[in-house]
Amino acid sequence: MKPPVRVTPPRAAVVWNGLIEEYRQWLPVTKATPVVTLMEGATPLIPAPRLSKWVGGGVSLYLKYEGLNPTGSFKDRGMTLAISKAKEEGAHAVVCASTGNTAASAAAYAARAGLACTILIPKGEVALGKLAQALMHGAKVLQIRGGFDEALTVVRELGRSYAVTIVNSTNPYRIEGQKTGSFEISDALGRAPAFHAIPVGNAGNITAYWKGYKEYRTAGKISALPRMLGFQAAGAAPIVEGRPVKAPRTIATAIRIGNPASWRGAEAAREESGGVIRAVTDAQILEAYRALARLEGVFCEPASAAGVAGVRTLAKAGYFRGVRDRTVACILTGHGLKDPNTAIEQFERILTADPTVDAVASVLKLTKR
Ligand code: F0G
Repeated sequence: MKPPVRVTPPRAAVVWNGLIEEYRQWLPVTKATPVVTLMEGATPLIPAPRLSKWVGGGVSLYLKYEGLNPTGSFKDRGMTLAISKAKEEGAHAVVCASTGNTAASAAAYAARAGLACTILIPKGEVALGKLAQALMHGAKVLQIRGGFDEALTVVRELGRSYAVTIVNSTNPYRIEGQKTGSFEISDALGRAPAFHAIPVGNAGNITAYWKGYKEYRTAGKISALPRMLGFQAAGAAPIVEGRPVKAPRTIATAIRIGNPASWRGAEAAREESGGVIRAVTDAQILEAYRALARLEGVFCEPASAAGVAGVRTLAKAGYFRGVRDRTVACILTGHGLKDPNTAIEQFERILTADPTVDAVASVLKLTKR
């Protein structure tokens, strides 16, 4: 029994002025807030019938393609608000620790706002596209000889002692902005999905989505809440293991985090919704990453595929058996072009030929008419 579905938020086709204008009444802004926007939000919710079959378990997957935000990730939802509020409060400089996407987003929004931006990233562990973005937008980029967790510890200390505003998701405005993702999904479906699948790194996004769904239900915009299904990479799964991971490892560098700042928020989302937080291996992540691109034409970065990988693992284990509504919204957090190296590494070789018809036909093994 499939409900009618709108695949974009209601007013997107008419006019879209960014998510602060669209969801103003739900956000801590006033007329005095200088809105810094790149027209983020209004990302499509894409039905994925072929991928649903691949995942199994009778699920109907919808892909919330957050890679289509202005800087290519969901971070823009939180950043439009965090930077607007920083400007309102008279800040001159913002700072963040990042596995790459927060950095790219902070750098872009700070540039637009005319604020200085400093980012701390783990040396050698940030995908190429993200680094390119941060540099291009004029951020001061500092590579830390350490991981994300250590970089965030330093940033928090900087925020206490120096005149800089932190724009990590420890900044409550980031969570407020990001909760609009649940509004868009609910507006598109006309209800909440039965399940909400999402990768978990620093755990801000799962916290934000859960907050958004709860607010929409309290306001009577939706009548039921989804079960929250969070997925960490197996080598970086502190919430699953119940203790911080000292040296987190995963190919999904975006979620290579051993001690998430919003740990409790993620646990609350899981417990209150009757959901789960599980681990998926790098092999499972890459399998889902390729399947998304090949079966649906949707290119996301490796970390983003963790949600789809996780739903497949749950389906195989019979998690959805006996469940009537198997609608799953999967949050594809970042664009595939962020990390071209991992994409190309999926292929052993690329065919090569001399520029003649004979050579090309021969390499392609074409048959003559
Ligand atoms: N997916 C992508 C593509 C990310 O960049 C992140 C986090 C996550 C998922 C996890 O979201 O942290 O809210 O649980 N990236 C942060 C960054 C840590 O610095 O860009 P989370």
